[in-house]
Amino acid sequence: MASANLNVMIKAARKAGRSLVKDFREVENLQVSSKGPGDFVTRADREAERIIKEELRAARPNYGWCGEETGTEPGEDPTRRWIVDPLDGTTNFLHGLPHWAVSIALEHKGEVVAAVVFDPAKDELFSAEKGDGAFVNDQRLRVSGRRDMNSAIFATGVPFGGRGTLPATLKDLARLMPVCAGVRRWGSAALDLAYVAAGRYDGYWERGINAWDVGAGWLLVREAGGFVEPIRPHDGPGVDAGDVVAANAQLFETFSGIIRSRD
Ligand code: IPD
Repeated sequence: MASANLNVMIKAARKAGRSLVKDFREVENLQVSSKGPGDFVTRADREAERIIKEELRAARPNYGWCGEETGTEPGEDPTRRWIVDPLDGTTNFLHGLPHWAVSIALEHKGEVVAAVVFDPAKDELFSAEKGDGAFVNDQRLRVSGRRDMNSAIFATGVPFGGRGTLPATLKDLARLMPVCAGVRRWGSAALDLAYVAAGRYDGYWERGINAWDVGAGWLLVREAGGFVEPIRPHDGPGVDAGDVVAANAQLFETFSGIIRSRD
C-alpha cells in the first residue's frame, strides 16, 4: 500500500497534469520565454510548479524544496526535500509532441525514497517507494532481461546548447552505436529513466543533467531491479552529480564501461 507521502505526491502530480493537459491542447497560444539558448519556460511550467508546491507544502510544510522553476529553499527539516520538475520535456510540449511528464521525488538523508513520474498524455503514472518496488499504474515494473548488447537499445539526451557536454556525448555515440541495436533521444529524461524501469529501453545515459530531471527516475530504475549511478565519481547524493548512467543488471557493466571509457 502506498505511504501517505506517496499519496500526496500522486495527488499533486495528477492535479498538475490536468493543468498541463489543458495548456497542451492550446499550446499555440502560450507565451514562451527563454531562460537561455534553447531553454524555454511558459505559463504552463510555472502554473504546474505552483500547483505541486501548494499541494506538497500544505501536506508537509517543513520539507525543503528544489524545483526547476522556483529553485532551492531549505526546510525546517534539513533531512528531507522535494525534488520537482513540473514539466520535463518542455520542448516536446511546445511542439505538440505528446512526450513529457511531471516528475516528483522525495529525498531523505540524501537518498530518494519515493518517486512519481506522470505522463498525462498516455495516462501512465510511474511510482516507486524504497524497498517496495516500482509500478506503472497498478502494474509492477521490471527492467529488461536483455543480456546481449547487439539487440539492446539505449536512450540519451543532450542538454540545451550542449552545456559543454556535446563532444563527450558524440564520443559516447561513436563508441556505442556500432555495438548496439539503436540509440533514442526522445527529450524527457524522467521518461527515459521510467522506460528503463519498464524494460522498454535497456539503458540510458546523459551528461549535464539536473537533479529535478533524474530524481524520481533514479528510484524507479533501482526499484525495478536496474542499476543507476553517476557517470563520474561523485561524493554525496547521486541525483546531484550532473550526469547519469542506468541499465538493466546484465548490461550495466558493459554499457557503463563504454560510457565511462576515456580513450
Ligand atoms: C530536459 C529534458 C531533456 C534533457 C534535458 C533536460 P526540461 O528537461 O529532460 O530530455 O535532455 O537535459 O533539461 O527542461 O524539459 O524539464
